[in-house]
Parts: sequence; structure tokens; C-alpha cells
Amino acid sequence: MVARLVQCCTDGANLATQLDAMHADQQLLCERLEVLADALPDAPHQGCLHVARTIGPLLHRAQALEEEALFPYVSTRWKVIDGVDDWIERLKCEHIEDTCYAEELSEALLAYGRGDAFPTPDALGYMLRGFISGLRRHLAFEQDVLVPLLREQRPEPLVSRKAVPGASGRGC
Ligand SMILES: [Fe+2]
Repeated sequence: MVARLVQCCTDGANLATQLDAMHADQQLLCERLEVLADALPDAPHQGCLHVARTIGPLLHRAQALEEEALFPYVSTRWKVIDGVDDWIERLKCEHIEDTCYAEELSEALLAYGRGDAFPTPDALGYMLRGFISGLRRHLAFEQDVLVPLLREQRPEPLVSRKAVPGASGRGC
């Protein structure tokens, strides 16, 4: 599915549309996780089990689109922007972080959903909120910086260099 998706996304407008859709899915995931975090220590076990199985595949689809189609396109199209490859490297690092964190979170949600003693509600809540905030910062940077480039197709840098260091604020 990802390969077909990537094949059809060879221009900026299509890429922006696909990126928006992937971001919407990830924002919905964050909202579902936030509902579970808010419900602790009484979060529904079935809800934890269900969402635990969706995190990894969803992130994989989104990151594959970005790394196989979006990032190469942006890197080539906007070489004029000083530091564009640094943004992309930073975003790739954040993908790795999110993937690792998602694996740990999925295991924790499965354990909680099974009724295991660990993680405790406090520990699960901490993990949930950490994952949500990191992913939302990542999505916000891509929405604020990459989507306008794709939609407007302007060759000029649309952000000042001051806004760039640290990309969404995380590192690896
Ligand atoms: Fe991303």
C-alpha cells in the first residue's frame, strides 16, 4: 500500500494532501491516547489493547511516505533553502525516536490491557503523555514548515533561519 501511495505522490500538491491525511490519522491517534491517559487509573482495558495494536502500523505508514517520497522531494526541490537537509535529518531522527517510543508504549498498553501489575497507572500516564507531546511537536513542525512549501511551491525560504534549529525541538 505504501509503495502505491508513494508512486502517486510525485508532485507537491499530492504530497501535501497525503501528508495532511497521515497527519490527521496521527492527530486522531494522539486524541485517543489522551482519552486513555485522562481516564487512568480506570482506562478501559479493551481500549488499551485495541489502540496498542494500531500505533506501530500507523507510524510506519506515515514515516514511509515521508522518507520515501516527501523528504527526497523537498531536499531536491528546495536546495535553495539553507539548512533544508538538516531539517530532514532531524525529522528522520525524530521518526526513529517515535518508533522506539511507540514500541515501548504499545507493550505497556498491552500489559495494562491484560491487567498486569506493571506498568502502574502513573507510569503508563507518563509514557502516554510523553509520546503524545513528542509526536504533536513533530507534526506541528511538518505542518508549519513542509506543508506550506508543498502547497505554495515557492522557491524562497518560507521560514527564517532562527526558526529552524532543532526542528521540532527534539534531537537524536
Ligand atoms: Fe514525520
